[in-house]
Order: sequence, then structure tokens, then C-alpha cells
Amino acid sequence: MAENDTRILLLEGIHEAAVESLAAAGYRNVERLTHSLAGSDLLDAIRDVDFIGIRSRTHIDATALGAAQKLKAVGCFCIGTNQVDLDTARRMGIPVFNAPFSNTRSVAELAIADIILLMRGIPEKSARARRGEWAKTARHAHEVRGKCLGIVGYGRIGSQLGILAEGLGMQVLYYDIEHKLPLGNATPANSFEELLQEADVVSLHVPETPVTRNMLDTNAIRAMRPGSLLINAARGTVVDIEALAEALESGHIGGAAIDVFPVEPKSNKEIFESPLRRFDNVILTPHIGGATEEAQYNIAREVVAKLVRYDDNGSTASAVNFPQVTIPDHEGRRRILHIHKNEPGVMEQINHVFSKHGVNVAAQYLETQADVGIVVMDIELDDAGSLLDELRAIPATIRVRLLH
Ligand code: NAI
Repeated sequence: MAENDTRILLLEGIHEAAVESLAAAGYRNVERLTHSLAGSDLLDAIRDVDFIGIRSRTHIDATALGAAQKLKAVGCFCIGTNQVDLDTARRMGIPVFNAPFSNTRSVAELAIADIILLMRGIPEKSARARRGEWAKTARHAHEVRGKCLGIVGYGRIGSQLGILAEGLGMQVLYYDIEHKLPLGNATPANSFEELLQEADVVSLHVPETPVTRNMLDTNAIRAMRPGSLLINAARGTVVDIEALAEALESGHIGGAAIDVFPVEPKSNKEIFESPLRRFDNVILTPHIGGATEEAQYNIAREVVAKLVRYDDNGSTASAVNFPQVTIPDHEGRRRILHIHKNEPGVMEQINHVFSKHGVNVAAQYLETQADVGIVVMDIELDDAGSLLDELRAIPATIRVRLLH
């Protein structure tokens, strides 16, 4: 269990489950603010903390990292990590953790809701009812059972969506650039084009990359079945939004659900502009695919678990910027964590410190990534603290820590 004086600062209204999880792990020196910090406020705040938790609005750049004299790790209580200068953090021996899995289910559930509503023409019927029109008809309203769902990007969200859709009786076809094991009865498409030609609904779940930019352009949309439906809860750049607007205008696309946009308002106070606003048969949501209470709760628990594991155990598994070591617990032994520049001869110098003092190294876990290496060592010596100064004196050392 951790020392009580470990200082943790949580910004941007991180879910209170984070504070509870930290307390359960013995960390009680936690300050939780509802807003983000910037400029000198951030520099003052980060100076004395061991861990900082942020979401997307706080920018931890090289200046902020430079001011952080004790910082051991950064927790991004979200998916994205480009608000942190990851390379500088790594070079300073500071791993950065995030929560890539925690809102998977939320996005998949929204896609399921979108599919059912679009198949029944509900967005349009609802819009007309609001205008006082009574559009009672079964025309163009379909059950989802037996229809083909084409999933582009069969990763965490895509594969979860496939399972849920099969539960509703849909046939699932997927396309991924990587070879992916099909779950349930899902079938891999031979090509992106084949998926577009076969699917009644196409749902996009790819990351934003140069290859996925405008992946759904005029040609791809033309390849889709007439009257088919499109869902984009991935990234706004994946769909050519003007091409989609044209296809909706012509009726080639029968409806769409769009959660992400090439340009999104920076705050809830800005007006949302989009060529899709004029269509009754389009569900527009403000990038809330992953935004649920459950996801926030899960994110809080996932990131805290990673920070605590790094602090107590030395494990950097799933750090986004750091060599990854996964290590068993170290009951009954002293554990030292040594982060260093990835240069020839460092391990020899570390081992020399132990052999010089006749200390037995019971286990050693080493990983390197780019310019940084991390080695976690379990040693058989009660007063391991006396060796730390000698390890610190090795020129390539970035930081050394005795774990608790
Ligand atoms: P993931 O990394 O688990 O899966 C992405 C999959 O796409 C991988 O299997 C990858 O091989 C595949 N892929 C990459 N390039 C491809 C290409 N050119 N063609 C076909 N497949 C390709 O990611 P995850 O967690 O499933 O997220 C998917 C998307 O959802 C991401 O863009 C993410 O940003 C977005 N997202 C949106 C949210 C929202 O609020 N709307 C919330 C969470 C994620």
C-alpha cells in the first residue's frame, strides 16, 4: 500500500469514483478540481504533485513538465492523449496512461440505437410529428432482424457492436486492414467495396489516419446500396460530409446517424454548423458516442488502477508513451525501479552496483522504447535505500525509485 503523503491532483471534474478508488488503495492526499488549469496556475499546481489527472482541456506541455519536480506519471481520464507532450514526458521518465476501453460499450450501444431508429424512419417521422404532420405508414419501415450490418474497423467498438447486432438477428460483415478474428457469426468482407455493396447499414469505427481521411467519399458512397444507411461515430474526417449531403439529397443514402464532424464547436456555447442540419432523416448527435455516466465511472476506475499499479508495483502496461513492463507483485522483496536513457552499457553499470555490495537480484524486468529504458528489479536486501544514490550516480539515469 502507498505512502500517505503521495499528492494527487485531479482536474476537469474527473468522476468521484477516482477519489474513492484512490482512497481504497490508500491514497488520501487527493485534490479534485472541477475545472482545467493553464499558464502559471498549472505550473504552480503541478510543481509539488506526484500524479496529475486530466481530461482533454488541460495541456501538459514541455513547460508544465519542466515545472513538475516530483511528477511520477500523468493520468488522462479520457481516450485521447495529444494534450500531453508524450515524447518529453517519456524522456523525463514520466509514463502517461489513458482509458482506451472504458467507453467502448457506450459507443456500440448508441450505434445500435441509431440502426433501429434509422431502419424505422423514426428521425423523419418524429420531425414531422413535431411539425403537426401525422405520417402513419409502414412504407420504408423495417425490422433490423436479418439485415446486413457492415462494420468498417473491427476493433474494440466494431467487434462489440457486431456482437450486439447479432443479438438482434442482424448479419454482420466487417472490414479491417488487420486480420481480425471474427466473433460470433460475423464474416470478414473480402474488400471495403464488397462491404459497401452488401450492407444495408454501414457503421464506421476506424481511427483517424491519413488512410481513413475521406474514406467515405463520393465514390465509396456511390458503391453503397441505394437506400442504405450510414453511421459515423468514429471521427469527423472519415466521411466527406458534402458528398454525404448530396447522397442524402438524391435519396441514394436513405438516412444517416452522425456523431462526429470535420469541424466541431469548441464549447456548448458555440453554434453547430453542418450541411446535414437540413435533413429530417439524419440523426445528429454532438460527439456523445462515448459520453455516459457509466463510461465516466469506468474511465475513473481504469486510470486510477493503472496509476496505482505503476506506483505500487512498477508496471507500465498500457502506458501510451513508455516501454511496457508487466510485473507480478513483489511480496517479501524490495523492488527498485530504474528509468534510464537507452544507451549501451547501462544494465552492466546497474548490475555492478548490486554485485559490488553482494546483493542478490531475484528478478529483473527490462523494456526499452526509443530513447528510454525501464528496469524493475526485485532484490534481497532490507535496506535497499542505501543503494539508490549509487544508482542515481550512473550517468544515463533519468530516475530511480524504491517501490512500496
Ligand atoms: P480500435 O483501435 O480498437 O479499432 C479500430 C480498428 O480500425 C482496428 O481494428 C484497426 O485495425 C482498424 N482500422 C484502422 N485503419 C483502418 C482502415 N483504413 N480500414 C479498415 N480498418 C482500419 O479503436 P476503437 O476503440 O474501436 O475506436 C474506433 C473509433 O471510434 C476511433 O476513431 C475513435 O476515435 C472513435 N471513438 C469515438 C467516440 C465517440 O464519442 N463518438 C468515443 C470513442 C471512440
